[in-house]
Amino acid sequence: MKIFNLSIECYPVAKVGGLADVVGALPKYLNKIEGVEASVIMPWYNKPFVHDHSFELVFDGWIHQHDQTFQVMVMKERSKILGFDLYLVKIPGLLDRENPYGYWDESQQFLAFQHGVLHWLTAMKIRPDILHCHDYHTGLVPFMIENCPEFNFLKGVKTIGTIHNGEYQGQMRWEMAKYFPWFYGENWGLLDWNGYINPLATMIKCCHAFNAVSGGYMDELFENFRGLEILVRQEHAKANGIINGIDTEIWDPKIDPFLDFNYGKEDAGIGKWNNKKELCSTYGLNPDLPLFSFIGRFAGEKGADFLPEIVEKSIQETRGSLNIIILGSGDKNIENQLSTLSSKYSNFAVDLGYKEYLSHQIYASSDFLLMPSRVEPCGLNQMYAMRYGTIPIVRYTGGLRDTVEDISTGGSGLNFGEASANGAVHAVHRALSIYHEEGLMDQLVQSNMNYDFSWEKSAQKYWDLYKK
Ligand code: ADP
Ligand code: GLC
Repeated sequence: MKIFNLSIECYPVAKVGGLADVVGALPKYLNKIEGVEASVIMPWYNKPFVHDHSFELVFDGWIHQHDQTFQVMVMKERSKILGFDLYLVKIPGLLDRENPYGYWDESQQFLAFQHGVLHWLTAMKIRPDILHCHDYHTGLVPFMIENCPEFNFLKGVKTIGTIHNGEYQGQMRWEMAKYFPWFYGENWGLLDWNGYINPLATMIKCCHAFNAVSGGYMDELFENFRGLEILVRQEHAKANGIINGIDTEIWDPKIDPFLDFNYGKEDAGIGKWNNKKELCSTYGLNPDLPLFSFIGRFAGEKGADFLPEIVEKSIQETRGSLNIIILGSGDKNIENQLSTLSSKYSNFAVDLGYKEYLSHQIYASSDFLLMPSRVEPCGLNQMYAMRYGTIPIVRYTGGLRDTVEDISTGGSGLNFGEASANGAVHAVHRALSIYHEEGLMDQLVQSNMNYDFSWEKSAQKYWDLYKK
């Protein structure tokens, strides 16, 4: 079975968040299953991976968007180094940028990607069994193959839509329809949601099956989906929840090249301590204190606006008996508040930026990882933390609910219910009492490292869905 994953991010080519990790791992694990041939199609970016690897031009053509004509080139990575075929779609002027997001004409950019891919497949008579569309950026594909005569050749190809984040739906004004490949106008309703074109809604309406990246989040979407609740209830027969895995070949403290000291379950105590000492000396923190961390985008859904208050209250209420380190960027106001706090408290450090190596070092060095998310479709950080012997402190929501069980009920993490700084600070106090209980930390480090979050199980679930 031939499966094409369509995505705007894929690790290690271009990563902004978990979408990249998932798309970089799922096809690799699917390809270990007999009879599966999974690959990834993504935009070309001006990134090191693209320049450091060798590509073959497999297609060169043109598409029209409104009154403009764009060249479309498709490049295939030669060595299959990622464990799957990787195709990059380059459209000079739209898909030749530094980053996946952040451009004023983003809607046109994503439209061009979807149009370019379908044009290439049609022109080259490549008909996969499944087009697997990730998030709203590729959500119009199921509509386009059924409603744009230009892609008649692909009519009937089965489509799966994965919702990594329902907060982002790609809504655009109807005047953007002029950038679409020509479509049968009578079916405009498939594009519309409340007077706007809504690609995520279109994906849900037009795909053959869709899933959210955890069962818990899928359940939540029926109640709270930024206006799409009615739609998802109507389409419930197509709905699935499949939890993400983690790529245990990349995220392995035993061989992780980003770590100063590698370690396994047998020497986790000393391994984590050595990493912690190194990290603390870089950031001027005292390694004898318990280390709490946060890694992620400074966005409302991550509860990042709680962070300044969490930092301040945790340090004040414990009279400085803990350290906190934060790695992330996003909302400028939060960035500024955290910078100010880092000058005020010697127990707190912040690194504003995106640093893959540092994230690995923090997972390895921390005693606790905080995730005060308001919304968390799956969350990968808690699974990376656990794999590195770090205790996750998570708000009880979405994928966090499905992956982290509280120690009070036999698990090895900490849950809190209230989406607020106080909810998180209360959990920090609980964590500190655990930290000071003789022998308990070692036990929790071990049990966290014993969890199996590898992709095998979840890849099998996608395979079952494809077969269906
Ligand atoms: P989301 O995709 O919503 O941001 P996930 O938990 O699914 O959240 O995935 C986040 C991914 O991005 C993880 O691999 C995490 O380590 C990584 N990450 C987030 N922020 C940073 C950062 N500032 N530097 C390095 N890695 C980061
Ligand atoms: C999204 C979600 C995150 C999830 C990731 C990968 O970015 O916010 O919770 O882990 O996608 O599916």
